Amino acid sequence: MPGQFRDIETRADCEQLVRAFYGRALEDPMIGWIFVDVAKLDLEAHVPTITSFWETILLGSQSYSGGAFRPHALLHARVGLRAGHFERWLALWQTTVDELFAGPRAELAKAHAVRVAHAFHGRLQTMPSPHDARPGAGGLVVTRHGPWPDSGE
Ligand code: HEM
Ligand code: HEM
Repeated sequence: MPGQFRDIETRADCEQLVRAFYGRALEDPMIGWIFVDVAKLDLEAHVPTITSFWETILLGSQSYSGGAFRPHALLHARVGLRAGHFERWLALWQTTVDELFAGPRAELAKAHAVRVAHAFHGRLQTMPSPHDARPGAGGLVVTRHGPWPDSGE
């Protein structure tokens, strides 16, 4: 397979990685629905942004202007992003990187994704999501069984 032992060198390489990742992610049974049904991701609009994100991290281009957390906070408020979603995202990313590239930048691509995923998940845990929005859906429910000890019943 050509390219298998080549590292990430150019913006075109970053874009190839991003497109291959979304090819998987959009069809994934665990997280695909978040991109397709909830975010209704416009892939052609999104690919240049996310390519710039990786180009900035891996190649030092400074083509990404930041603010990556915000869309995830908005998503979390709608669907509740869980640890399992991030683990799945990371598994797909790692598989895609390893399938296409090898070398220090490929390793950095995997390592930085882990850091960002953990940081995002940690920040989201302090924010409300639909999972905890319903009263009585979680937490302790107090029920009374039988007479109160001092009721004399
Ligand atoms: C070559 C060096 C690095 C570059 C160019 C870089 C670049 C970036 C960029 C562009 C972001 C997105 C920021 C945003 O959207 O506002 C980011 C996020 C992040 N980076 Fe790095 N990074 C580098 C090294 C590191 C290292 C060494 C660590 C930790 C040991 C790290 C941890 C993180 C974390 C935790 C986030 C997510 C922050 C958040 O919660 O929004 N990065 N990085
Ligand atoms: C459960 C995991 C994740 C889901 C479901 C998810 C989903 C999304 C969605 C729907 C968008 C918005 C697209 C749009 O409409 O513009 C987005 C943007 C983005 N995501 Fe994620 N994402 C996840 C994890 C991550 C991780 C771990 C990273 C980084 C390593 C990341 C990096 C980004 C970046 C850089 C953007 C573009 C933000 C901008 O517009 O500047 N995402 N993501």
